[in-house]
Amino acid sequence: MDNTEEYLLEFKGYNFERSLVKMHIVESADDFEIRDDDVFIITYPKSGTIWTQQILNLIYFEGHRNRTEDIKTMDRAPFFEYNIHNLDFIKMPSPRLFASHLPYYLVPKGLKNRKAKILYIYRNPKDVLVSFFHFSNWVARFKPSDTIENFMEMFLDGQVMGSRWFDHVRGWYEHRHDFNIQFMSYEDMKKDLRSAVLKICGFLEKELSEEVVDTVVKQASFQNMKTNPQANYHGITKYELGVRNDKGHFLRKGTIGDWKHHFTVEQNERFDQIFQREMKDVPLKFIWDINEE
Ligand code: A3P
Repeated sequence: MDNTEEYLLEFKGYNFERSLVKMHIVESADDFEIRDDDVFIITYPKSGTIWTQQILNLIYFEGHRNRTEDIKTMDRAPFFEYNIHNLDFIKMPSPRLFASHLPYYLVPKGLKNRKAKILYIYRNPKDVLVSFFHFSNWVARFKPSDTIENFMEMFLDGQVMGSRWFDHVRGWYEHRHDFNIQFMSYEDMKKDLRSAVLKICGFLEKELSEEVVDTVVKQASFQNMKTNPQANYHGITKYELGVRNDKGHFLRKGTIGDWKHHFTVEQNERFDQIFQREMKDVPLKFIWDINEE
């Protein structure tokens, strides 16, 4: 695609949101010095990024946990390539937490030292698509779509921020041995948040007391995050990104299987066919329904 697209900026085969991306960071990512205790949360958009940012902040920062510090989730675990507050990453004290939607081949080379950790969160792509559809219609910097059909076309074609979902997940999965990476699904977090938090702590080598784990789980619940201005991105979305109406929420539904309320039978069959073709040799487990084991 060409770079005149109003909403997207293509670089090395990957689409960024044009007005928010800091290209100097992306272009010099290889030289960005990675510290052994850095942690990157990597996701395809709408897969639970903000949720994982909140969980990690709660795990790492006592002031975030007991709400004595007034630092937003977004600034505690800033987006690497979408550093919209222009934080000085070099001056950030360790341990640094970052969030990113970058594909495996654009992240800092230093992550291949296999010491710094990557938590890769993936979500079933039908729910990603629905979440992305609503988000794009709400936030003014994204291209709106009249119908799911129109959005599905763009999504399958990779004409969205993050490019093709299939390429992102596949790419990271196939290159997992180059990194110190843990894959987790949004659905596993949703079905049993406490177990997910303990698994994350195990990967991050963080030992928390039972009581602290309880606090993390409680504060990372959908309802608590939705009403917590530090965690719900509402201010950032409304005042910094700009919205088309007052009806949307960054924390919209937070469920598994909302796609069933949006896809037609025909759309679902088409999506399934493409999913099977693209993901047949990727053994990650996907959960499409809240009642699935
Ligand atoms: P929905 O639009 O389906 O509600 P991201 O942060 O990657 O953009 O992902 C946003 C999605 O994660 C939204 O999905 C949002 O509601 C969901 N989400 C955020 N926090 C959550 C939580 N605590 N529990 C469940 N879902 C959450």
